[in-house]
Amino acid sequence: MKKTLTALALFAATATPVLAADNCAATIEGNDKMQYNIKAVEIPKSCKTFTMTLKHVGKMPKVSMGHNIVVTKASDAKAVATDGIKAKATDYVKPDDARVLAHTKMIGGGESASLTLDVSKMDAGTEYTYFCSFPGHATAMKGTLKIGG
Ligand code: CO
Repeated sequence: MKKTLTALALFAATATPVLAADNCAATIEGNDKMQYNIKAVEIPKSCKTFTMTLKHVGKMPKVSMGHNIVVTKASDAKAVATDGIKAKATDYVKPDDARVLAHTKMIGGGESASLTLDVSKMDAGTEYTYFCSFPGHATAMKGTLKIGG
């Protein structure tokens, strides 16, 4: 019994949370510590669309601890986040930014929001990133997204 508990504790401390996505959907939580609870998502390649739901499980308001999910190619993420900082009026996402595959609205504590990806327009060989575009959040609040088996 003791040995089993030790093994579980080690697993919890070292494993990167990878969501075993089924139903072509994933729910990710954001909190008041500027963290997503899931840092890697794999989309089953059988999915035609994929829905990502963000739940802000904190209590802080949108103006001080806003969270969203913005999906881009990994190679575009930094530039999209930088441009987003200047776009306060549009939830810190540059309007009509072609590099953004999809994004949720910006939310505060207790709220949730979703986006839907068109998986047919995504490439299995490309690495994607999801991040929060609230100023200063993208370096901590980000995860990898790819199409898997
Ligand atoms: Co945020």
